[in-house]
Amino acid sequence: MFAAAIILAAGRGERAGGDRPKQYRDIGGKPVLRRAAQAFLGHPGIARVQVVFHPGDQALYDAAMKGLSLPAPVSGGPSRQASVLAGLRALNKADNAPDIVLIHDAARAFVSQDIIDRVIDAVIDGDEGAIPALPVSDSLKRGRAHVEETVERADLWRAQTPQGFPFAAILAAHEAHADKALTDDAAVAQAAGMRVRIVEGDERNIKITRPEDFAAVNSEEHMITPDIRTGFGYDVHQFEAGDAVTLCGVEIPFEQKLKGHSDADAGLHAITDALLGAIAAGDIGDHFPPSDPQWKDAASDVFLRHAMGLVRRQGGEILNVDVTLICEAPKIAPHRAKMRARVAEILDIELERVSVKATTSEKLGFTGRGEGLAAQAVATVALKGQDK
Ligand code: CTP
Ligand code: MG
Repeated sequence: MFAAAIILAAGRGERAGGDRPKQYRDIGGKPVLRRAAQAFLGHPGIARVQVVFHPGDQALYDAAMKGLSLPAPVSGGPSRQASVLAGLRALNKADNAPDIVLIHDAARAFVSQDIIDRVIDAVIDGDEGAIPALPVSDSLKRGRAHVEETVERADLWRAQTPQGFPFAAILAAHEAHADKALTDDAAVAQAAGMRVRIVEGDERNIKITRPEDFAAVNSEEHMITPDIRTGFGYDVHQFEAGDAVTLCGVEIPFEQKLKGHSDADAGLHAITDALLGAIAAGDIGDHFPPSDPQWKDAASDVFLRHAMGLVRRQGGEILNVDVTLICEAPKIAPHRAKMRARVAEILDIELERVSVKATTSEKLGFTGRGEGLAAQAVATVALKGQDK
């Protein structure tokens, strides 16, 4: 099943105020839209993420989304509904249209992997849509200056996004009802006669709407109860006759090479194990058994990307990695800058979050005798605040 996501970011964010549309403002050092897009990019069930933006925001978009692998954003319309239709049409035009689509407001920056799972699981291909929603817990009143009526709150829900649908059916529904002003995609689906299931929403999945919402999310549990993990990794490879070694993803000409099943990049292996350690996800050998021929001569960035994917899958973020290479030769210093840049690129994190260091072992032990080299790494990962 091919699932895609549309991230709506073409609004003007008038109620939120500020010097730019709310989706381009930072929360915890990261733009709202980047947070929303990364939640879907990091989800293994979502194969394509299509952002819908306002063409006047190109410079803000480029700055906010730097380094993410996304198709070019498409331009939205004057209403949310028009923007959704633009996103659906863009997905329909691509080589192959998805089977299901999740439509999400960029303003809900704290969408969890669990909500995405629940919505995908509940969408029945070709048949039913699904929305996350929370039951109303306050008493509901209708009135102006005075209460005129108390509204029965049983069976009333607060709808959130992402809202998921069979792709062809929701595209047809939006095309058919483009002239009506409907407030969400579930309303459009219903207008077209589609059934829409309700799955459990999440209190943290708020839609940032007003100025005070920024202050709230900055100080609230999403932010101040970080779940910080540290992991450690260690790896050794032996030298053998050859002409180059690969360390931290950088090839260095040398009179020997490192012996191993993959490219024997001890630096990337140590960082991979450190990340796996931080989320208690076993070790590199569990994920990539040396006995499996497909990893023979593999470039080790595959292992590192896999570990990074597991971190992201848990809603986690890599705060920093620090690796130390231990060898008498080759000299690491001339290659350090390139190694840092390469590791930062593989992990999609800022350069200042990556450190590469080197030391000799004063000619002592196996590294001192030049029989092989060792690498040690630590990684720090912030998992999203878990349910308390
Ligand atoms: N949206 C959109 N195109 C529009 C209007 C809204 O893509 N023409 C998107 C917004 O960017 C937002 C989501 O739909 O992510 C939900 O809308 P809302 O929270 O109302 O955002 P804004 O319309 O930007 O805010 P406001 O109504 O305060 O101006
Ligand atoms: Mg709006």
